[in-house]
Amino acid sequence: MEAMSRVDTERAASVVGDALAAIHEVLERHRVTEEEWHAVLRFLTEVGRADEFILLSDVTRTSVLIDTMEHGGDESGATASDVEGPLYVDDPPWREKPVKVYEDYEGMGDDADVLVVRGTVTSADGRPLPDAVIDIWQTGPSGGYDIWDERQPPYNFRGRWRVEDERGAYEFETMLPKPYTVPTDGPVGRYLEAVGQHPWRPAHIHFKVTAAGHERLVTQVFFPDDPYLDNDTIGAVKPALVRPVERRGEHLGCDFDIALAPAG
Ligand code: BEZ
Ligand code: FE
Repeated sequence: MEAMSRVDTERAASVVGDALAAIHEVLERHRVTEEEWHAVLRFLTEVGRADEFILLSDVTRTSVLIDTMEHGGDESGATASDVEGPLYVDDPPWREKPVKVYEDYEGMGDDADVLVVRGTVTSADGRPLPDAVIDIWQTGPSGGYDIWDERQPPYNFRGRWRVEDERGAYEFETMLPKPYTVPTDGPVGRYLEAVGQHPWRPAHIHFKVTAAGHERLVTQVFFPDDPYLDNDTIGAVKPALVRPVERRGEHLGCDFDIALAPAG
């Protein structure tokens, strides 16, 4: 209600008017029956009860559309933004340096690969941002997110830290994530099945980066050769965010330089 009260009435009337005209046109064109429409209304009620509206926005690729309209166009030199998704957990732990964002857990698999991600955080003009805060979240090498996997300690593969380096350099140790499915046990899972859309996302690491005087950046990093790079169920892969991974001695390494747009 608070968000709605900030919407300009004239704009709301014109956007809602166009949205309704588009929906009515589709219903008429397909001669949608009363039974089908009531099924749609029941489905939306269930989506609300299950708190899955963000997920529905994601899998219908509406989140990506809105994100691209809001933050798209990287003429500014800033790193491309990407959708946050529903799996961020508030108040993740602050990690000490050298940053390691996980603890080993039973069932992580013997073939799990340690991955060291490193790069710099700068302003779009290249000026280092030593005060920037990096906040990352991702799945483990097996079992998905900590919140789905009782074998993992809370906040595993989550954490934030301040860059605190005059060149803006950062580094953290994690494990290479694997592709995983969005939650399929609720109404959105039934929707995916009904429309014949698979639930898989390519492996990725989410980043949220903030620094004084700069726009907050929310983005994701993907890795080459992933079977779902070309068909992410939420359509969030951007070529500039696919970063090479290479073997560096005992572990894998990936470089990801982050540039933030100045505020305003
Ligand atoms: C995720 O990346 O974690 C995610 C994004 C959208 C829907 C479900 C999961
Ligand atoms: Fe994710």
